[in-house]
Amino acid sequence: MAAAAPAGADADVRLVRVWDPFVRLFHWALVVFFTAAWLTGEEIDWLHELLGYGVLALVGMRVVWGFIGSPHARFRDFAFGRATTLAYARDALAMRAKRYLGHNPLGAAMVLALLAGLVVTGGSGWLLTTDLLGHEPRWLEETHEVAANLMLVLIATHIAGVIFSSLSHGENLVRAMVTGMKRAE
Ligand code: HEM
Ligand code: HEM
Repeated sequence: MAAAAPAGADADVRLVRVWDPFVRLFHWALVVFFTAAWLTGEEIDWLHELLGYGVLALVGMRVVWGFIGSPHARFRDFAFGRATTLAYARDALAMRAKRYLGHNPLGAAMVLALLAGLVVTGGSGWLLTTDLLGHEPRWLEETHEVAANLMLVLIATHIAGVIFSSLSHGENLVRAMVTGMKRAE
């Protein structure tokens, strides 16, 4: 794992690479594609479908990366049990949550929920373009619409979690998702 002292920063602060380039590119491309897909729903069909397939392709690649990627990108690194996650949630409420270099247990649950939500949103969108379940059945349109809106709730919670975690540990997690680096301790 790479370690370096930041230029011009306190020499005592040791930085380690946590997020590899693929994870960072995946994340910000996902933000762009998801936002654009959301904005083009019901507006520009061909572009909306293209962007939606882009989201599904990104999620597909991330799942593969979860098995072969760098240590903190692997699902193994953030597969926490229910007891650990609940204990972490209690500690977070009491403002004494332990710091994790990779995803913390609540963050990990959110990552999995976001990926699953994107599969349901993209998958239901794709099914709407086929006649596999009938021609654009109303329930499928509603599933797609509700899933897309639920994603907004998840994303708002995701961003709130990122801000909360950043403040609790005095670090900028958004910048870490850009540079890939976090302080070692
Ligand atoms: C501008 C708004 C956003 C910000 C500032 C943001 C920030 C972050 C940060 C800091 C992390 C790393 C969390 C950690 O340290 O454990 C993260 C992870 C993640 N975010 Fe976001 N996020 C944003 C929007 C989104 C959106 C719109 C989606 C989904 C459509 C999303 C999906 C994810 C996923 C799947 C991960 C896990 C990354 C991985 O392990 O590959 N984020 N986000
Ligand atoms: C994964 C990212 C996606 C997001 C965030 C998303 C979001 C949306 C939204 C917000 C709407 C408008 C819903 C309404 O108010 O009626 C919509 C409609 C639609 N989307 Fe998507 N979508 C995604 C992926 C896809 C994909 C991959 C396809 C197909 C290949 C698709 C096909 C459609 C179709 C056909 C409609 C019109 C449905 C109707 O008539 O109600 N979407 N989408």
